[in-house]
Amino acid sequence: MSDEGARLVALITGASEISQELKYLRSVECWRIAVILRNPDQTKPLGRVITKEIVPSVKALGYRFPIPLGNLFSPALIRLVASRSPMEIKELALLPICNVREIDTVMEALYRPNHVTMPRAPVWDIVCHAPELRFRSNGPPLSEAQKILVFGQSDPPPTAKIIVLKTKYRLKKATIERRSMQERFEASETIRENIKNRHTTPDSFDEFEKVLQKNLHSGIFGKRAKFVIFKSSLIRGNVLKITGDKGDLLAFVCANTPSHLQDGFIDKYMSLYPGTIKECNSAELGLRLPFKSSHFSLYNKFSAIAPEGTEQAHPSTFVHGSQTRDSSTLQPRESEAVLSYPLEFSHFKDSFQPLCEWISSQIQDLIPEEAGILEAYLNTLPGSPTVAVHPMPCMALNHNPCTLQHFDGGDAGSAIVIAFIKGKGGQLVLVELGLVLELESGHIVIFPACKLSHLNLHYEGFRVSMVFHSDCSSQAWLRNRNGLKKNQFFTAPF
Ligand SMILES: [Fe+2]
Repeated sequence: MSDEGARLVALITGASEISQELKYLRSVECWRIAVILRNPDQTKPLGRVITKEIVPSVKALGYRFPIPLGNLFSPALIRLVASRSPMEIKELALLPICNVREIDTVMEALYRPNHVTMPRAPVWDIVCHAPELRFRSNGPPLSEAQKILVFGQSDPPPTAKIIVLKTKYRLKKATIERRSMQERFEASETIRENIKNRHTTPDSFDEFEKVLQKNLHSGIFGKRAKFVIFKSSLIRGNVLKITGDKGDLLAFVCANTPSHLQDGFIDKYMSLYPGTIKECNSAELGLRLPFKSSHFSLYNKFSAIAPEGTEQAHPSTFVHGSQTRDSSTLQPRESEAVLSYPLEFSHFKDSFQPLCEWISSQIQDLIPEEAGILEAYLNTLPGSPTVAVHPMPCMALNHNPCTLQHFDGGDAGSAIVIAFIKGKGGQLVLVELGLVLELESGHIVIFPACKLSHLNLHYEGFRVSMVFHSDCSSQAWLRNRNGLKKNQFFTAPF
């Protein structure tokens, strides 16, 4: 094999090996790579490798495989670039990727805001003059799931309408007494019994809206009001946003999950992870339900926070108030499950990547401010850990769940819940709102789980749920690196 061919194989193999990691590059790193490639510094070994190896390989790629930009960029990215360049989408999609000069011109609008202003080095000229070949690859079009796997996103599904339902509910943190497991179970059974005896199930969205607004008009769910059951099928394809008296978010119900992500999920999950989901009748099993929860998370809530005015003190002197096992932890860290089961976690991310990407897109669309803060948090974490659903640092994977009434005091902001069921029941009850969400398998709920208490109704069949959430202490890290930013012993490149 010629040198050129060997380099090409190495380039393609290398790129395919790290393609998943490239997707999770922070935006700054993407632009750093762009700058390094654009104008390789000949005084450094990396610059010389780019000039001598990578540029000729890209040229070879251009000769042998005249890939158009549309085969490399996701449809969404092509649309974004076209919207900021004089080229039409179609013309842009057919632009050969090795035509770097032309691509520089159309990408100008994206380069400039990211301060990529240095001109491309002349060495790249050899790439621009690849002869045009007379064939075009014309393979079968990718399926939706394949597009998500390749691009990390696919054509956006039909735009979901966001229906806003305003209520007078005054959002505050729920209080639940500390009780034994048996007492908690009994209290949840009482709520379930109440719902069974006193509920209303509207047949239309308009009727549901009236009932919920009436139930909450005094700012709380009155004792005499009946629980209202909301079927997500009433808004299929759309998103419902329920707000409180100050416009604060009470819940998003997303009934727009693409069907290819919903269909057959339980069967797929069981074939990948045999033995994790069992057929259950939660009412019969009670506390014997084989409910197992695994947390694949990045936590800061167990970290020690340095008090103000301790810049001279050694970090080992700071301890977390409740931490008895490991008081030396000073920075966000991975949960036990991530460390104990790295292969399983990686397997989950790979197997359910299309679903994770979908959930991530919903988060970024519906709660962009929270998503921005969490992205900033993830971007400053040591070791650049990856998460299943960007930018949520925490994930609970629940097998056979039927939760008792609780709220998640260790979270901050919104939690995203997605449950799949093959059977019936398992509705999510938002207790303080008097609201029972009867969701289709795979529909998403986003709500402040750290404030509103919640539980599941009983179910029969196979059930799995995933909860993506944040950590109440992420702000402490963002603010001043757990109080260590000015500490004389603490050095970090961020
Ligand atoms: Fe919860």
